[in-house]
Amino acid sequence: MSNSPIAIVTGAAKGIGRAIAERLANDGFDVLAVDMEPVSEDLPSAAPGAGKILFHRADIRDEQAVQALFRTAMERHGRVDAVVNNAGIIRDNMIHRMTLEDFQAVIDVNLKGTWLMCREAARVMKEQGSGGIVNIASRAWLGNRGQSNYAASKAGVVALTRVLALELGRHGVSVNTVAPGLIDTPLTRGLEPHVLQSLIDAQPTRTMGKPEDVAHAVAFLLNKDTRFITGQTLYVDGGKSIGAGI
Ligand SMILES: NC(=O)c1ccc[n+]([C@@H]2O[C@H](COP(=O)([O-])OP(=O)(O)OC[C@H]3O[C@@H](n4cnc5c(N)ncnc54)[C@H](O)[C@@H]3O)[C@@H](O)[C@H]2O)c1
Repeated sequence: MSNSPIAIVTGAAKGIGRAIAERLANDGFDVLAVDMEPVSEDLPSAAPGAGKILFHRADIRDEQAVQALFRTAMERHGRVDAVVNNAGIIRDNMIHRMTLEDFQAVIDVNLKGTWLMCREAARVMKEQGSGGIVNIASRAWLGNRGQSNYAASKAGVVALTRVLALELGRHGVSVNTVAPGLIDTPLTRGLEPHVLQSLIDAQPTRTMGKPEDVAHAVAFLLNKDTRFITGQTLYVDGGKSIGAGI
């Protein structure tokens, strides 16, 4: 077993999750990069002295798969120091056009999946008396037209984080939320060009963020020097959460 700290990052095949996995590896974590999609082999090799990135295929909606993931981590490494719950999906529509399936699909990944991951993380970290959890929500939890399912799921993630900070603080575990705004990833590249442009125009910065911007915030919250920060929501959104920028 290596002496490096161990991190699990979900949704790590691409986008923000991949940037987080790479950043944590460069910070010295051995990273278990989890995704339901097969991962391309072109993950850049980490810098000298960096940790390893190992892939693990799992669907975070599946209770048994999540339990097996933590069993694998414990068998392989004997502990889990950090968990980043990043996997998430969108199925946008105005509520009068949204199907129950689209509501349920988003709640299942973003809220139920994150809760399942947090429960296993809590069991391991409580036992070892240390750890850090970062849940990726979204600025959209404050409200976004066409995202009644997504915003509700991410509001649930913020509430889950706050409760776990209360429950796990005495066990040396910090739990925080990072709430990104508009970030350039495969998810946002799937938006209609005119929709994407209107979102960029509504940004105080008039720019999109990069996955690495979110990864920096996650790395900050998982650093041993910031463990007194817990239960908080850190916005990485170019100022959009401030309100009307018109
Ligand atoms: N991109 C943005 O502008 C933005 C803004 C705010 C919040 N976020 C949040 O950041 C996170 C990452 O977003 P992204 O833009 O990188 O998305 P993305 O679609 O580029 O990547 C998400 C990854 O999660 C994986 N995934 C989805 N469902 C899964 C499941 N059930 N089990 C395991 N893996 C699963 C996908 O396979 C994919 O690799 C999401 O939670 C998203 O809601 C993104």
